[in-house]
Amino acid sequence: MNDRDAVVVQAPAKINVHLGVGPLREDGYHALHTVYLAVSLHDTVTARPGEGLSLRMTGEGGAGAGQVPADRTNLVWRAAELLARHAGVPADADLDVVKRIPVAGGLAGGSADAAATLVALDALWGTRAAHEDLLRLAAELGSDVPFGLVGGVALGTGRGEQVSPVLATGQWHWVLGIAGEGLSTPAVYGELDRMRADGRVPDVTGPSPAEPLLAALRGGSTAGFAAALANDLQPAALALRPDLRRALRAAEDAGAVAALLSGSGPTVAALAADERDAVRLAAELSGVGVFRTVRAVTGPVPGARLVG
Ligand code: C5P
Repeated sequence: MNDRDAVVVQAPAKINVHLGVGPLREDGYHALHTVYLAVSLHDTVTARPGEGLSLRMTGEGGAGAGQVPADRTNLVWRAAELLARHAGVPADADLDVVKRIPVAGGLAGGSADAAATLVALDALWGTRAAHEDLLRLAAELGSDVPFGLVGGVALGTGRGEQVSPVLATGQWHWVLGIAGEGLSTPAVYGELDRMRADGRVPDVTGPSPAEPLLAALRGGSTAGFAAALANDLQPAALALRPDLRRALRAAEDAGAVAALLSGSGPTVAALAADERDAVRLAAELSGVGVFRTVRAVTGPVPGARLVG
């Protein structure tokens, strides 16, 4: 294959370092105040000239690419069709996704791939879409997709699709631990609604504000950041998957500064004191027999960007 025409884009995973979930809205989504953080674990999307659309997904390290259909139901395929329609060009491309981000892990891997596809095909097709247009197309594809374009640290409001970048000076080191099978995001949101309705967790009138986390980011200390981490979906994910309590405890017992579930789970995000501590923590967590995959990552990193 002649690769001179290939466009290669990295698609980073995200952790929600604050995830405030409001009540269920009439459109079936929940109002959010969330703070996204893009991390160094990434998928790679390669786009090449083609006739019609074709998509190949390959995986490594238990990412589970085989669980995702490589057809028109895939968010990557839908991103390609949406951009082609928007730009008025034929949807001709050969797309190759190498997955490292585990599927259904709460790390927004599928959303990251979709954002990267928009960037890759905008370059391949020379469509030169305005950033605002790409953000709008991304929001049509899914709540987490616009953040995939922005990366770094960003505040997400609305259903998470309205993103504004947040200045963050620090770098944080994490260990991501993936325990057992993936969790369905709608199922976790549904469980949270039931828990609020029957009083297992307090009901709310709006999403909890992100301000404590944003203040901690400005402060820059790891201890302050750790104390401000919050995820309203965590009790619901734990109700559906009680074994995750053990996974969180394993991270704390191994000396994580803090541990929480990423998004709707089941990935455990364990905060390390520094890079060396992350390597130590990753080695320790690999040995506890709880996690299928363990990865040391750092963030913030930029969003979907051309690397070739
Ligand atoms: O936007 P996206 O398609 O990624 O959302 C997947 C599902 O997650 C939605 O259908 C909904 O059940 C749930 N969701 C939600 N509130 C949000 C975002 C997602 O209830 N803010």
